[in-house]
Order: sequence, then C-alpha cells, then structure tokens
Amino acid sequence: MSPCAFRARDVILGDGTIGHIRLLAPADREALIEGFDSLSPESRIRRFFYEKKALSDQELYALTHPDGVSHIALGLEVVLEGRPTPLPIGVARCFRSDDDPEQAEVALITRDDWRGAGAGTVLIQALAEAAWEVGIRRWYGALFCDNQTIRNLLSRVGDLSDDRAIGSGVVEVLCDLYPPAQPVPAVSTEAE
Ligand SMILES: CC(C)(COP(=O)(O)OP(=O)(O)OC[C@H]1O[C@@H](n2cnc3c(N)ncnc32)[C@H](O)[C@@H]1OP(=O)(O)O)[C@@H](O)C(=O)NCCC(=O)NCCS
Repeated sequence: MSPCAFRARDVILGDGTIGHIRLLAPADREALIEGFDSLSPESRIRRFFYEKKALSDQELYALTHPDGVSHIALGLEVVLEGRPTPLPIGVARCFRSDDDPEQAEVALITRDDWRGAGAGTVLIQALAEAAWEVGIRRWYGALFCDNQTIRNLLSRVGDLSDDRAIGSGVVEVLCDLYPPAQPVPAVSTEAE
C-alpha cells in the first residue's frame, strides 16, 4: 500500500492564528521533546495514563518515523513573532492494528496553553482524512471516562460506540469514521 499522501496545509485557529498541519518526520525530534516538556502532569496522565516523565530515545525514534501506512502522525505548529522556529502545539497519530487493517488506535494531544483554540479539532479532522486515505475505517482509543472533550472531537469525525470499561476509570471507545467530506461541486451561474 502507498503511504498516506497527506498534503500539508494552513489552518485558522479560533483566535485567528494561522497554524500549519503536516506529516511528522525524523527532523521533528526536538519539537516533540519541546512539546512533551510543556505538558502538565494532568495532560501526561490523560494521554499516557500515568505521569510520564520523558520520552525515551526509542520512543522518540518510533514517534518521529511514521511510515504513513501502519503509523500516521500529524503535527500542528504555529509561527510566533520573535521565535526562530515554529512552536509545536499538537500531535495526532494512529497506529493500524495488526489483526484488522481497517482499524487503528488513535491518540491526540495539544499543549495545555493552547487548549480551546481549535487545535484538537483541526488535528483530528486532518488525521481522519489521512487515515481514510490509507484504508483505515475505524479508530479505537483509550480514555478516562470523564474525558468529554476527546469524545466530542471524535464524534465530529465518526460514529462513537458505547464505552467498554478497561479498568481504573479508563474506557475504550470505537469510532466508525465518516467518509471525508466531498468537495462541494461548483455551481454554474450561467443560464442553461
Ligand atoms: C483532548 C485535547 C486533545 C483537546 O485539545 P484542544 O486543543 O483543547 O481541542 P479544541 O480546542 O479543538 O477543542 C476543545 C474545546 O474547545 C472548543 N473550541 C474549539 N475551538 C473553539 C473556538 N474557536 N472557540 C471556542 N471554543 C472552541 C471545542 O468545541 C471543545 O469544546 P468541548 O470541550 O466542549 O467539546 C486536549 O484537551 C488534550 O491534549 N488533552 C490531554 C490528552 C488527552 O486527553 N488525549 C485524549 C486521549 S489520547
């Protein structure tokens, strides 16, 4: 299967800031470390289910070498005045299941100080599009049962199943992805 050919694009966030979404690449190692270091303890727990202190070299390698088929990873960054490099503000990724090629595990995180600005929304929508392109039709994800924000985000891109408890307040949800929106055909204004 050909790797996902997601086209990098600009997006407008809630406060009007222009963000840029693109496939993650090996050169994003430092950005990933910076993004991880910025996370609050609560965010680490919500994403990893414990207060993860750092990403190991092995994890950093794996997370920055998505193959676009079994692992798709998108990053969102913004250019800020006075900062020489773009600020990484979120990552969304999915890992295809070995036993069901139409299914993948989804994970998403955004910087604490950029929450509520639409970063999660644009990332999940872009990831759904990229996943669909390579034949992924269903996501599953583990989340704390009170994590309504991620549920709301997922329900924008697919149909959510009932929760399945997997322990300690953590549930697994399934999300049957909707086909990406088709471009609206141009309406001819000429008289027929
Ligand atoms: C879940 C998570 C990724 C959401 O990221 P985010 O960047 O805050 O997402 P958004 O800004 O797109 O949406 C968050 C809320 O802001 C709202 N919002 C989005 N754009 C907005 C705007 N322009 N104006 C006002 N509100 C807005 C959304 O509707 C959403 O509201 P809701 O919580 O009532 O559903 C983030 O909270 C996170 O990283 N959490 C920790 C990790 C985690 O829980 N991951 C999920 C398990 S893998």
